[in-house]
Amino acid sequence: CGIVGYIGEADVKEILLNGLEKLEYRGYDSAGIAVLNKEGVVVFKEKGRIADLRDVVDEEVDAKLGIGHTRWATHGVPNQLNAHPHQSTTKRFTLVHNGVIENYHLMKKAYLSNVEMASDTDTEVIVQLIEKFSQDGLSTVDALRKTLHLIHGSYALALLDKEDKNTIYVAKNKSPLLVGIGDGFNVVASDAMAMLQVTEQYVELHDQEIVIVQKDSVEIQKLDGTKVKRASYKAELDMSDIEKGTYPHYMLKEMDEQPAVIRKIIQAYQNEQGELTIDQAILDAFHDADRLYIIAAGTSYHGGLIGKEYFEKIAGIPVEVHISSEFGYNMPLLSEKPLFMFLTQSGETADSRQVLVKIKEKGYPTITMTNVPGSTLSREADHTLLLHAGPEIAVASTKAYVAQVAVLMVSASVYAQSQGKTLDFDVVKELGIAANAVQAIVDSKEEMEQIATEFLATTRNAFFIGRNVDFYVSLEGALKLKEISYIQAEGFAGGELKHGTIALIEDGTPIFALATQQAVSLNIRGNVKEVVARGANPCIIAMEGHEEEGDRFVLPKVHELFAPLVAVIPLQLISYYAALHRDCDVDKPRNLAKSVTVE
Ligand code: G6P
Repeated sequence: CGIVGYIGEADVKEILLNGLEKLEYRGYDSAGIAVLNKEGVVVFKEKGRIADLRDVVDEEVDAKLGIGHTRWATHGVPNQLNAHPHQSTTKRFTLVHNGVIENYHLMKKAYLSNVEMASDTDTEVIVQLIEKFSQDGLSTVDALRKTLHLIHGSYALALLDKEDKNTIYVAKNKSPLLVGIGDGFNVVASDAMAMLQVTEQYVELHDQEIVIVQKDSVEIQKLDGTKVKRASYKAELDMSDIEKGTYPHYMLKEMDEQPAVIRKIIQAYQNEQGELTIDQAILDAFHDADRLYIIAAGTSYHGGLIGKEYFEKIAGIPVEVHISSEFGYNMPLLSEKPLFMFLTQSGETADSRQVLVKIKEKGYPTITMTNVPGSTLSREADHTLLLHAGPEIAVASTKAYVAQVAVLMVSASVYAQSQGKTLDFDVVKELGIAANAVQAIVDSKEEMEQIATEFLATTRNAFFIGRNVDFYVSLEGALKLKEISYIQAEGFAGGELKHGTIALIEDGTPIFALATQQAVSLNIRGNVKEVVARGANPCIIAMEGHEEEGDRFVLPKVHELFAPLVAVIPLQLISYYAALHRDCDVDKPRNLAKSVTVE
């Protein structure tokens, strides 16, 4: 979910709606805003997108402050009733909230048994508690404070009090939230992109802080009331990076940016002599570790699998890759000197953050590899490696994955060289060749569209197979297709398919097979034959040099270790066109959010 707030003289409603549009990547089931004017609080909310909310927002609202929310449903189905903002029974208090309150049932029972709730949400419990404590005689900030002491879970919240037309009350724990500083106005937002329209200056908030935001002042307090002073920083974002331009979809724009992203990474990690470098402190951390644990979710997890290959093969460090939502609650036996690397495009994924918190408690060293400088996981880890992919807006990740693979390659090889290892390839040169190869593929869009039509027009399922790193890329290819076209897809290790899943192969079932690795090229072709014998419709994507007659697409030749950067591109494009042909909402697929800030 995403939240915004504004207090100042400008058109509140418009600023909130624009802000929410920029936050739609965080969820888009339902949305709402509340503004406070002379008559009181006016709430507009609607199921669906911000565009749907715009249709119901009255032109005539004249207010000086307001809050807004775009939702990714956790508690309660996405409907108008459960959409935020939520109000207390007397309508004195109005609240937007991102996060999950774990003990809301208990709170309801203990304090609100005679309150009639208007929704099924955990959020309503917060606002009703504030109302209750305020009726008991506490000031608004004290009622908020007391509530925050009682509730357990994650929250980024913004609160309006009808009796106080000069203040937005804000609090944060675990879920991301920033306060933006303006001249004669101030704002609140889940991320800086949302409010770049009005300010570039932001103050970060820490967990368990309350902020009293007024037109000309921002006061940060700890939960115990101690005041906190913190300087603001300038958000390094360019408005043009977050616009679609002439592209029909962000996803298409972001796929097209991939060659440039690889080149940007080369530059960003090069020193004046043109050599690749990373921070000495990070090299030391690798050096001191006996095992690297890569923790990630979704597409980043697939990036992590490639990272394992790189760190083990190039740098000789043993690596384990774990899904973050599992790791924190079922921690494996750790090595003596573990080093943790969190892979996260957004730097906000709650599943990954809960692991970081637990690992920090244990005192182990941590690195976050992220696309978002200043994000929660970046701030909280000991070190950060940046992806330099530029803002990724489409929910399905493309350029951030490619950036992860490239930065993993850079860090593994720089570390290997720092240990005196000689590589038999030149990383800068090979990345350059890979960038050109990616360019050639994104320039073959017609071909990709044809493949999508040929293989995916009517199918209900599809399989992706590969061996070695191609297997990991297959997982990512299948995820892309599922996410945006809703075709059921599975990625499989080529040799494993026959041990069960082959039962699903029917006449015409599409099989995408990757063949980029010389050592297993014959094996994967054997696996293709097995499924073809059972009626499958194969689409073989092979690397130039070991292509065979009948292969459907030949990838320009790159060094085998760099093949994942290139092999994923056709799979992204094929998924894009498959989704387009099925009239799916490519940038905002159903049920998903780009940045999931709840566990
Ligand atoms: C969400 C997105 C995925 C993404 C995952 C991890 O579920 O829909 O596309 O891969 O989160 O996100 P992160 O920002 O941590 O890489």
